[in-house]
Formats: sequence, structure tokens, C-alpha cells
Amino acid sequence: MSPADLPFSPAADRNKDPILAVLRQVIPAQAQVLEIASGTGQHAAHFAGECPGWTWQPTDAQAEALPAIAARCSPWPRVLAPVLLDVMGPSWPLPEDAYDAIYCANLLHISPWPTCAALMQGAARHLVAGGALVLYGPYRVDGEPLAPGNLAFDADLRSRDARWGLRSLAAVVEAASDAGLGFEQRIAMPANNLVLVFRRDASAPR
Ligand SMILES: C[S@@+](CC[C@H](N)C(=O)[O-])C[C@H]1O[C@@H](n2cnc3c(N)ncnc32)[C@H](O)[C@@H]1O
Repeated sequence: MSPADLPFSPAADRNKDPILAVLRQVIPAQAQVLEIASGTGQHAAHFAGECPGWTWQPTDAQAEALPAIAARCSPWPRVLAPVLLDVMGPSWPLPEDAYDAIYCANLLHISPWPTCAALMQGAARHLVAGGALVLYGPYRVDGEPLAPGNLAFDADLRSRDARWGLRSLAAVVEAASDAGLGFEQRIAMPANNLVLVFRRDASAPR
């Protein structure tokens, strides 16, 4: 697949550097990282290219996405072959207790709400003790009005699929806590997005 044929997300191109700046603060310089919902693979290629100490495992639920992710990441030997992974699957086809960080951008609002609990439970299984789950995307924050752009985005999502929509930060934090992931921090990002950082509690029952 030639570079000109690869799918391209303008949003992923715009947000890759602000997200990378946060990831550098949260993920150790040498780390095994699992990415959920890699999409076009632009984030995998950019982050792995900038941070050669990260071994990056891209995944996506759509088999059709995998060849383009592999092609885009082929210059970077520490990006592993992309794996077909549906968060909703009963188990994920990758090692448990293995990842220093799990990164997932722009999934929870474009999937049914049960995806959130499945993501949290899977992350708790696959992170090492003390490992970080890093989410990026737009959220609803209790007591804060949605920015006009996010209000329109939410309405558009719900018109496309009634099960989709911006998620409540409090509900996401509760789902994480139920899975044994503690909420660590929320970082404001451009265009009214957030990065959310959770950490696997080593003492929580599995
Ligand atoms: C909006 S795209 C985001 C892609 C990329 N993370 C980004 O921010 O540019 C959503 C991605 O989620 C994937 N996806 C949807 N449902 C999923 C699921 N249940 N498990 C894993 N990936 C899923 C889709 O195939 C798609 O690639």
C-alpha cells in the first residue's frame, strides 16, 4: 500500500502532537504500550517514531483497518504487527499483566456505552500493576456546559446511532473504579477534548 493510498484522518494529524506531549509525561521512556482502536495508525506511527523506547502494539476491531496500520508503521521496527481486537470480546488476544500503558483515543463516544466497562476490565487485565490507561476524546463534565462544538458533535453522533454520544466523565470514572483502575488526572486538550489518566491499583482484586 503506497503512502498516497493510506486512509488519513485530519483530526488525528491535528491532535497528534498535543497528545504526544501528554503521553511523554505519563508513559516511561522505555515502555510496552497497547493501543486500542488504532484507526488509521497515524498516532501509532507518530508516537513510535518520536519515542523509540516505546514498543507499540496497535489494534483495531475492524480487520480492514489492519493492512493500512501495518503499512503506515512499517518504518518503525518497534511498532508490532497490528492485531484484531474488539474491546467487547470475551478475552483480548494479547498477553495479560504485560503493558506499562494502554492508550485509546476517540472510542467511547463512537461505540455503545457497554464498551466503556469492557475497556476498563480489559485494561485492568492487560496492564502491569501500576500501569496507566490513557484515554483521549470529548467528554461531558458534571456542572460544566458542553462547548457548542461538542454539543453539535454529540447531537450528530446520536443521530447516526442512538447508542453513541459523549460520555459523562463521572460515569467513566465509576466504570474504571469498578474494574480496579483509579482515576489519576484529567488534562484539558485543544478543541475541548480531554486526556484522562487511570492507573491499575496493584492491590485491587482481579
Ligand atoms: C473514531 S476512530 C478513532 C481512531 C483513532 N484512535 C483516532 O483517534 O484517530 C474509532 C475507531 O474505533 C474502532 N472501534 C470501534 N469499536 C471498537 C471496539 N469495540 N473495539 C475496538 N475498536 C473499536 C473503529 O474500528 C475505529 O478505528
